[in-house]
Formats: sequence, structure tokens, C-alpha cells
Amino acid sequence: MLNIAVMVSGGGTNLQALMDAVADGSVRNARISIVISNKKDAYALTRVAGRGIKNCCIAPKDYENKEAFGHALLAALEAEQVDLIVLAGYLVILPGLLIQRYKNKIINIHPSLIPSFCGAGFYGLKVHEGVLARGVKVTGATVHFVDEGTDTGPIILQKAVAVEPDDTPQTLQRRVMEQAEWVILPEAVDLIANGRVRVEDGKVRIL
Ligand code: GRF
Repeated sequence: MLNIAVMVSGGGTNLQALMDAVADGSVRNARISIVISNKKDAYALTRVAGRGIKNCCIAPKDYENKEAFGHALLAALEAEQVDLIVLAGYLVILPGLLIQRYKNKIINIHPSLIPSFCGAGFYGLKVHEGVLARGVKVTGATVHFVDEGTDTGPIILQKAVAVEPDDTPQTLQRRVMEQAEWVILPEAVDLIANGRVRVEDGKVRIL
């Protein structure tokens, strides 16, 4: 059984998709052991309430530096014997010590087809604003492993979504979530939990 930590900052719709997929059996051999937010009032934490999943807020501002923050996160993760960390709309750059400790054990969902519209500055609605400004006809979402760079780790799954002529950043964000993010994030977790994801030469092979 894979012990998962989900890290969130906001609305938590990807967390919801993952909790639902674990509950209905479409993600097998995995359990969400803990949900960690960097914001006390994140709606994602409200979604967890009553589900019997441990949750807490660990905020960078409560620590004197990034390293101390990293050690606090590490202590929470180790206490739950976490095997996989899922960043689901987590808006904090993870301290390097976590990335080293959990190499190829941290995944992120990004709302575009990497390597387009990713990297520094491309988060939240800014991604979809960039897509509309460039006029691309297809966008989507990517689940990837997290390495030291921003959105540079090995790509696990991608799914394309059409851009419609009258889209706003908000309508496009919603379509990308519904058609891609909430589908491929649970799918990637299921593949990992069932031993079907291997990283070779910086690339993912699905077994
Ligand atoms: C999603 O678009 C995710 O791809 C991005 O931040 C958003 C989070 O949404 N990184 P939610 O908190 O899961 O609703």
C-alpha cells in the first residue's frame, strides 16, 4: 500500500479528484495518509474534514528560514512513512532537501502541455492567459516528477484539451481541470502505486 502525502495551497479540486478516485477504487493500492497546506484557510483543508485523513498547515512564514521549513515538512512526512508526495496546486517552491530525499517520489500537476507555458511565472491563471495570448489551439495538462528545476522533471502523463475561440482564462482553466487534470493525476498515482512507472535516462517509461 502506497502512503501518499498531498500538498495543497488553494481550492483543492485536484485533491478532491484524488480522494474520490481512491474511494471508488480507480486508484488501487494507495491511501492518502496526510494532506499538508501552506495556508491555514485553504479550502482544500475543508474538503478533507470528516474523511478521517490527517491534515495540517506548515507555513514557511512560521520558520526562520527555508531549511527550518524543510525540516518541519520532512518530520511530518517521515512520521507518516510517506512513499509519494503529490503536489496538487501547491504554490511554494519545495526546499531542496525534500527534493533530494524524495527523488522521483514527488509528482506535480501542471495545467499546460510542458514544455509550453511552464517554468517561472507560469502558475494558476497566468498559464491560461499565456495560452490565449499566443493563440495556440490545443493546450492541456501534464503530470511530472519534481526535480530541482521549475516544471523540468520527467513527464509521466499528458492530456490535450482544445482551446475554444471564445475562451477566457477562467473558462479554459475549468476545461483543462475537468478534461485533463482530474483525469491524469489519479491515473498517474494509480500507475505509480502499481509499479508501472520507471524513470530511465530522465524519461518515464510506463510498464
Ligand atoms: C491547478 O490548475 C493545478 O494544475 C495548478 O493549480 C491549480 C490548483 O487547483 N498547479 P486546485 O487547488 O487543485 O483546485
